[in-house]
Amino acid sequence: MPIRYLDPIRPVAASGLYSEPNHPMREVTRSVALDADWAPERSQSVRDLFDGLASEWTENRDSPERILPLVDALGRGFVEGRTALEAGAGTCLFTRELCARFDLVVAMDLSLAMLSHAVTTEAPLLNADASRLPFPDDVADVIVLVNMLLFPSEVERCLSPTGAVVWVSSRAEGTPIHLSAEEVEAAMSSTATGRWTGLASRAGTGSWCVLRRE
Ligand SMILES: C[S@@+](CC[C@H](N)C(=O)[O-])C[C@H]1O[C@@H](n2cnc3c(N)ncnc32)[C@H](O)[C@@H]1O
Repeated sequence: MPIRYLDPIRPVAASGLYSEPNHPMREVTRSVALDADWAPERSQSVRDLFDGLASEWTENRDSPERILPLVDALGRGFVEGRTALEAGAGTCLFTRELCARFDLVVAMDLSLAMLSHAVTTEAPLLNADASRLPFPDDVADVIVLVNMLLFPSEVERCLSPTGAVVWVSSRAEGTPIHLSAEEVEAAMSSTATGRWTGLASRAGTGSWCVLRRE
């Protein structure tokens, strides 16, 4: 099996949390990851969406419970290294945790408005589109995506040969931008390096998977 499931940590009952299975961003997330369907108009509309949410993002989402799935993924997923790239960092609510663990963290986002509300100054911020990461090949030990679209070819290109991609949905299936671990594996395994495998679990309200090349 390409994905091995670990026991959940402090799972929170699903009722009320997994409320948006038909959210429009779900279909966008799938078509970006599995069909590479990302055009300038879509990039602009996603940027506009998050520009509009930027001023209230942190106020309504900054909590230790929300960070728990990332902490669990990094720990039980055995994620180590020096350099981490966080794509779709938003207002950097998860970047703080990464800065405590990695020597260099770059936090990037499509929305300049989201980055302008960053809650930390510890990481360099980069306003760019993750469909074309402005980095050389093999540069990152870890690429972290929390509630963020997956661009598999670019993740594969920029991740070092032994690197890990960390995929976190802070509200599991209730997260608008969500893929199952199997969908993440299928998307990554469609890239140039072939098969990816890894671990997955749930923690608190969220779910995660950590994948590496086989
Ligand atoms: C749901 S928010 C998550 C923000 C943050 N990770 C969090 O969970 O608090 C998704 C973020 O991904 C960013 N994003 C979406 N598409 C992107 C792209 N193509 N390149 C870079 N960032 C993107 C958005 O601007 C937004 O800030």
